[in-house]
Amino acid sequence: MCGIVGYMGSQDAVPVIMNGLKMLEYRGYDSAGICTMDSGDVEIRRSPGKLVNLERLLKEQPMRGTIGIGHTRWATHGKPTVANAHPHKGGSVVVVHNGIIENYLALKDELSEQGHIFISETDSEVISHLIDEKMDSTGSFEEAVQQALKMIQGAYALCILSKKDDKTLIVAKSGSPMVIGIKGNEYFIASDMPAIISNTREMIIMEDGEMAVFRNGGVKFSTIYGVEIAKEPRYIDWSPLKAEKNGYPNFMLKEIHEQPQAIKNVVAGRLLEDEGNVFLEELHLNDEELRSFERLCFVACGTSWHAALMGKYLIEEYCRIPVDVEIASEFRYRDPLVSGKTLVIPISQSGETADTLAALREAKNKNAHIVSICNVIDSSIARESDGVIYTRAGLEIGVASTKAFTTQLVALYLLTIRLGRANGSIDLKKGQEMIAALSELPAMVEKTLELDLQIEEIACEYLTSWDAIYLGRGISFPIALEGALKLKEISYIHADGYPAGEMKHGPIALIDRDMPVFILAPNDRHLVKVRSNMEEVITRGGKVVALCSEGDFETGKRADFTLHIPWAGEALSPVLFAVALQLLAYNFAILKGKDVDQPRNLAKSVTVE
Ligand code: G6P
Repeated sequence: MCGIVGYMGSQDAVPVIMNGLKMLEYRGYDSAGICTMDSGDVEIRRSPGKLVNLERLLKEQPMRGTIGIGHTRWATHGKPTVANAHPHKGGSVVVVHNGIIENYLALKDELSEQGHIFISETDSEVISHLIDEKMDSTGSFEEAVQQALKMIQGAYALCILSKKDDKTLIVAKSGSPMVIGIKGNEYFIASDMPAIISNTREMIIMEDGEMAVFRNGGVKFSTIYGVEIAKEPRYIDWSPLKAEKNGYPNFMLKEIHEQPQAIKNVVAGRLLEDEGNVFLEELHLNDEELRSFERLCFVACGTSWHAALMGKYLIEEYCRIPVDVEIASEFRYRDPLVSGKTLVIPISQSGETADTLAALREAKNKNAHIVSICNVIDSSIARESDGVIYTRAGLEIGVASTKAFTTQLVALYLLTIRLGRANGSIDLKKGQEMIAALSELPAMVEKTLELDLQIEEIACEYLTSWDAIYLGRGISFPIALEGALKLKEISYIHADGYPAGEMKHGPIALIDRDMPVFILAPNDRHLVKVRSNMEEVITRGGKVVALCSEGDFETGKRADFTLHIPWAGEALSPVLFAVALQLLAYNFAILKGKDVDQPRNLAKSVTVE
C-alpha cells in the first residue's frame, strides 16, 4: 500500500505533490519518487527511504513542470531500492501504482519476449511497459490504458503519464482508493483526501473500474471499457487536521498523552445520563431494528482486531448477543456465514484497510447490515457502511496505534450500552451506572500516564531481553495481545500475548530468567486465577511484572515489579491497562533508540491485501 499524488494545473507541480506525499507517508516510507512533464521532457527523481531523502535529492536536482505524479512506497514486490521505487518508466510511459498486479509475471514474460527491458523487481513496472506496448498498436494514450487495464488482474490505483501525449494525465482505479480534487482548471489527485484537502474541498471519489483523463484543463470520466460517465464533485466540509508535535519529541508520545481528551471527544454529546442510554443516531437503527439481529460479527485487522475482541467480551457479557470476531483477511475468502440477520461491524482507524474493506463488501453482498467503527471521516469504509460510529480520536500519525485504539474501546462500550438497552439486557440502573463510570475515565487515564517513570525503570531492566510474554484473562486477554503487538511494532522485541490459562499448554516452556512476563491482573473476577498463573511463572524462575489495580497490595508481592493501575470497573479498566502497555512499549523503543513514529517495515494504512 502506497501513497499516490498527481497534479495538473498552472502551479509548479513539485511542491504540490511533495506536500501531498507528506500527508500520505503513513501509507509507506520505504522509498519515494516523483515525475514531472515539461514540454515533452520527462524528469524522474527517486530515492530509497523516507520522503526526506527525496526532498534532499530535489534540492540538489530540482525539476519543474505543471503536470506531475508522485509516490511514497510500502514495498511488496522488490526491495526498497532506487530501481524499485516509483515512478516506473516503460518506453514513453510513466506510472505510479498502489495495489498489487497479480498476473505480473506472465505479463512480464510476454513483454520481455516483445523486447521490453525491465529494470525493477516490482509488479508495477509491468503496467508502464504494457501501456507503452499498447500505445504502439493503438496510437492513442487513452485507448492504450484501457486495453492494458483489461489485461491486468489485481488491485490498482494509477496515475499515468506519457511522453507521446505530454498534455495528458490519466488516472484509473480498481480495488485501491483514489480521489480527485478540483479547483477551476486545476486537478489534484491522491490516494486519500488529507493529501489534497488543503488545496480544494471539491472532491470526486473514484469507483472501481473507472478512469479519468485530464487534458487541456478539462477532465473526462469513463469506465475502463470506454463508456463515458458523469461524476459530480462533493463538497468536503471537515477541516484538515494539522500534524504538529506540540512540544512532544514524537507523535506517538503526543498521541498517548492526547487520550484523556480523545476519550472525552468520543463520548461528547452521546450520553443520555437520565435514560441510562447513549445517543448513536449515526447507527441509523431503532431499538426494534437493533433487536432483530441474531448475531454480531466484527471484522478488523491489527490493533483494531484487538479492539474487536474486547467488543466481543463486552457485548456478549452485557447484551447476551453472540458475537464473532473475524480477521478481515480470513473472513473475505471463506464464504462467511452472514445474512440479513447479522450486524457486521468493521473496525478500522484509517477506514482504508484493504482487507477490512473487502470483508465489508463481502458481508454487504450477503445482505448483512453494516455499521462501522472508524476514525477517519469519509474514508472508504465509512462511506460504504450503512452507519458509522466515528471514534473522533483526531489525526493519528504514529504508525503504532494508541489513541485510535482506546477510543475504539470506548466506542464499543457505547455500542454495548445502546444494544443492551435496546434488547433489555441492560436495565435503566445498570445503564446509568455504566454511563457514570465513563465520566471518571479521562482523569484515570491522566493518572495512568503518571506511571511513566516507573514504567521507564521496568523497560531499563529488561532492555536486553529478546522476548516477552503478556498474559491476561477474560477482557484483559485482548489487551495482553495489544500490549505484545505494541512492543513488537516499535521496539522489535519479540512478544506474544496469551490467555493466562493457556500458558501451561506451551508458552511456559519458554520461561527462564531472561524472559519478562507482563501479567495483567486487574481486580476483576479472574484475579485469583491470574495470581496462580503468576506463581507458575515465578516457580520456574521467570521474571514477573504485575500490572495490578490500585489498592491491591497482595498480587504483586512476589513479582519483580508491580504497577498499580487505577480501577475503572471491569469493563473500562482495560482502557487504562492499554495505556500503561503503550508507555511500556514506548519506553523500550526509545531506550533502544528506535523511530517510534515510523517503525521499520510497517505502514499506518494497509491498502493492499
Ligand atoms: C496497520 C497499522 C496498525 C493497524 C492496522 C489496521 O497494520 O500499522 O496500527 O491496527 O493496520 O488498520 P486500521 O486502519 O484498519 O485500523
